[in-house]
Amino acid sequence: MARPHIEPYVELDTAYKKFDLSGFRGSEYKVLSLDVDNGACTLKVKFNGGYKRKPGLSYSDVEIFVLEGRIKVGDQVWTRGHYAFIPAGMHIGAISIPQGAEVILMYNDSEPSFEESDRNHPLALTEASVSLNTYTDAPWGPGNIVTPSVASGCLIKPLHYDPLTEAITFLYCMTPQFRQDNISYHDSAEESYHIWGTSWMMQFGLLPTGGYFWRPEYINHGAFRSELGIIAFGRTDSKLHNYFHYNPWSTVEENTLRAAAQLYRGRPRLYAWAASEGHNHPHGPQDFEHPHYHDNAQVRHLHGEPPIAIEEQAVAVAKQQAKKPAAKKKASRKKASKKKAASKQKVGRKKLSKKRVGKKKVARKKTKKKSRAKARRK
Ligand SMILES: [Fe+2]
Repeated sequence: MARPHIEPYVELDTAYKKFDLSGFRGSEYKVLSLDVDNGACTLKVKFNGGYKRKPGLSYSDVEIFVLEGRIKVGDQVWTRGHYAFIPAGMHIGAISIPQGAEVILMYNDSEPSFEESDRNHPLALTEASVSLNTYTDAPWGPGNIVTPSVASGCLIKPLHYDPLTEAITFLYCMTPQFRQDNISYHDSAEESYHIWGTSWMMQFGLLPTGGYFWRPEYINHGAFRSELGIIAFGRTDSKLHNYFHYNPWSTVEENTLRAAAQLYRGRPRLYAWAASEGHNHPHGPQDFEHPHYHDNAQVRHLHGEPPIAIEEQAVAVAKQQAKKPAAKKKASRKKASKKKAASKQKVGRKKLSKKRVGKKKVARKKTKKKSRAKARRK
């Protein structure tokens, strides 16, 4: 089951709880949203001054956004506006927070976890990692990088993009006096945390600083207003597509049908294939570009399947790795014996040719001697 609809939720009104878990002691947390089936969650975490942690990793993809404070991570310093995507199994350096800090902390595949380690897990997809200061190291782009587009005055900084699910993590802002008069919904879940500022939405009212929502797919939101502007951190769990309309009474079921009708009209062959019976593809069709996408934890989660146990993956990889050297040895032994045979043949040929040359030389000498003797007799 996916996370329930939480909107609006103003976290500043609730108290922190002690984070009594290995790797997190010395910090406090609030739950903003939680998937009760797999423990995936978005937390607001306050690290108390003097917090320290050794290098380590988690078995879930982790995202972190620094709201306040300075966090020393290995040889990096993360300050306000820093964002990091840390793939499952990738280790990060020792953490030290002398003066305390506040962050949004997201575990995407399972409950928060920490294992001390100074190296990456062999299955960690480390190339997907991201670490940057979003305030200073990323430019604002127009909201129309997603079309159909939000109204002008809503700008976006894409921070992380998942090529399998097209899920996107981004920073967005609304300029002062931002207005958008239509109603929106998406195929994806949408999440937002207001870092600063207040916006207004027709369905859910005012969302101030510290305001949060986790909104499942196909739920109407809009029209929008913001008098002084906002800056916010947002995410989707799959492709972000804006479906706009002007019917404030449409239901989730009607919105879903309307989205499917657009697919029926605009991509008729794909709709016909996906909707027809008998494909026998309960875990998704084959994709020659991403042959192992069925194993991806986020893809499985989106389709209501539990993640593959990390132990099973590790055993499969260990088996593959164990096979490779044996095969190599066999191949190298074959090569060596071929070489040996070839060199033997070469030596044999050389000897033979030497013998032949020698015999020929002797024969030539004999014939020369005979001809000289004949000449003398004459
Ligand atoms: Fe939206």
